[in-house]
Amino acid sequence: MNSFGLIYKTTIFGASHEPYCGVLIDGVKPGLKLEVGDFIPSLSRRQPGLYGTPRKEADTPILVSGIYNGYTTGSPLLIMYESKNVRSSDYEKLINHPRPSHADFVAFNKYHGFNDPRGGGAFSGRLTLGLVTSGVVAKKIYDCDIKSEIISISNVYDKTKFKEVLEKAKNNLDSVGGIIKITIKGVKIGLGEPYFDSLESVLSHALFSVGAVKGVSFGSGFKGTEMLGSEFNDLIIDELGHTKTNNNGGINGGISNGNDLIINVAIKPTPSIGKAQETYNFKDKKVETLEIGGRHDVAIILRMQVVLESVCQMVLTDMYLRGLIYENN
Ligand SMILES: Cc1cc2nc3c(=O)[nH]c(=O)nc-3n(C[C@H](O)[C@H](O)[C@H](O)COP(=O)(O)O)c2cc1C
Repeated sequence: MNSFGLIYKTTIFGASHEPYCGVLIDGVKPGLKLEVGDFIPSLSRRQPGLYGTPRKEADTPILVSGIYNGYTTGSPLLIMYESKNVRSSDYEKLINHPRPSHADFVAFNKYHGFNDPRGGGAFSGRLTLGLVTSGVVAKKIYDCDIKSEIISISNVYDKTKFKEVLEKAKNNLDSVGGIIKITIKGVKIGLGEPYFDSLESVLSHALFSVGAVKGVSFGSGFKGTEMLGSEFNDLIIDELGHTKTNNNGGINGGISNGNDLIINVAIKPTPSIGKAQETYNFKDKKVETLEIGGRHDVAIILRMQVVLESVCQMVLTDMYLRGLIYENN
């Protein structure tokens, strides 16, 4: 459904053009110092830049519940964001003529036409505000050193060429995707369970929940299949379990091994493009030309780093809290 986590539990709500969207977080311990300013650095990283949607929103968090005198109370934390800059008429025609690669078609079918189609409704990137917010709170409970970088855009790995690739896509009324590499240092040994809640399973479950994520791999990922065991095996070099290489991405047996977690995430090109596309119109019962209005990101990937980092932080905090049951026995 719309909640994630067993102890640190994040529920996101809202839709692109509803008056508010946000997050409800349960499992937050009392006494954490929390103020609006804590969220601003992460939220500003999520704001659209030069190749982002022209839709501008202030994205100031409203701390509604679970806070008293600047500290968390231990009750569920409710944080909301107001949406003001909406242009819902852009989306009316998409009910009959859904955008290829977006959620319009599946949402209409799954919710029998009762879904909110405005701005992609609940499938909008706007809902990631709640994820970024949860990441900020989660970091106050278990602080992970998470960094990310865009390693490729549209299969170009030379960072000096990214601008050129983006410019070309923008001028051609098109969009591009790419790969984000996430590195997480200092994760303690022992987070994760051997089977269904392996750290890889839980991280990828959460990462795949973000719109436009189409691939998640750990360590050397699919490249590892090209290596021999003697090349792939991460040799242990000290009593802390540090390894010479990190082809496993910091996880063995579903459990963090104390080395950096290395995660690569594939982001697809933004579904909504300015270019005309030939796709099925369900009212006219034939393939017709679709020209998409609305305001969209040329490359979602440029706004995704903070979102993915926040999701990892949210997961690791929950896994850390879950792991405490072993410490206390
Ligand atoms: C931060 C962010 C911004 C997004 N911006 C757009 C956008 O401007 N236009 C669009 O068509 N899709 C956008 N999306 C992507 C859709 O939300 C996503 O592709 C859609 O929900 C379909 O899901 P899928 O990619 O998992 O199939 C964005 C996603 C995120 C996470």
